[in-house]
Amino acid sequence: MKLYLALVFFSCAGHMLVESALHKLSWSTCGSNSPIIVHSLDVSPMPITLPGHLTLTLNSTLTRQITNSTLRLKVKRHTFLMDFTIPCLLNMGSCTYDSVCTMADSMIAHNWAGNMAGVGTQIKTMLTETGVAAPNCVIGPRNVVINRYQLTLPGVSSLLSLVSTGDYSIGVHVTEHSTGQEIFCANLEISLAKCHSGSC
Ligand SMILES: *[C@@H]1O[C@H](CO)[C@@H](O)[C@H](O)[C@H]1NC(C)=O
Ligand SMILES: *[C@@H]1O[C@H](CO)[C@@H](O)[C@H](O)[C@H]1NC(C)=O
Repeated sequence: MKLYLALVFFSCAGHMLVESALHKLSWSTCGSNSPIIVHSLDVSPMPITLPGHLTLTLNSTLTRQITNSTLRLKVKRHTFLMDFTIPCLLNMGSCTYDSVCTMADSMIAHNWAGNMAGVGTQIKTMLTETGVAAPNCVIGPRNVVINRYQLTLPGVSSLLSLVSTGDYSIGVHVTEHSTGQEIFCANLEISLAKCHSGSC
């Protein structure tokens, strides 16, 4: 009986997770006087499938020159019972990166999560092709436009078993070293679908 109830409980929980999956990226900014203005941002498909292809569109304006900055992420997974914070594991999750301009290089050099080097290479190519690369950690003022750029994402590394199909919120905070200013603050709501041999 207990087992049966537990099964009913978990299968309902499974349905609730699936039904809550987002079909569109939801985002909002939280800073004030930010020198980074996002006009539009989209990621498709939603849920993001892992492995899979992700298409990124961004239209933003840097209203002043921006220099070396720290990126802090806070990743929470929503379940119907509660939210829990995904810790920083293998450079993925709720991590702090003290040099945002060299993140793609670091992703390649240290192959984050055991399989992210390829994504780092694609990001570098994307930044070069869209003219946004900042080799000396200095960029702007300028518009930053990325128009439907496609990235290929790997599956979830077996090292990151905490990451599973479901809804996540990502808090993004960027602080510039030279001024100490929080130059960007945003909250993103995404869904992930973890797939194995074609089924998610
Ligand atoms: C970016 O957004 C600005 C402000 O809304 C708009 O004027 C501009 O046309 C957009 N650029 C692109 C490439 O969509
Ligand atoms: C950016 O800042 C970090 C942390 O202080 C530092 O390790 C890195 O070398 C800096 N990068 C550049 C290009 O100045």
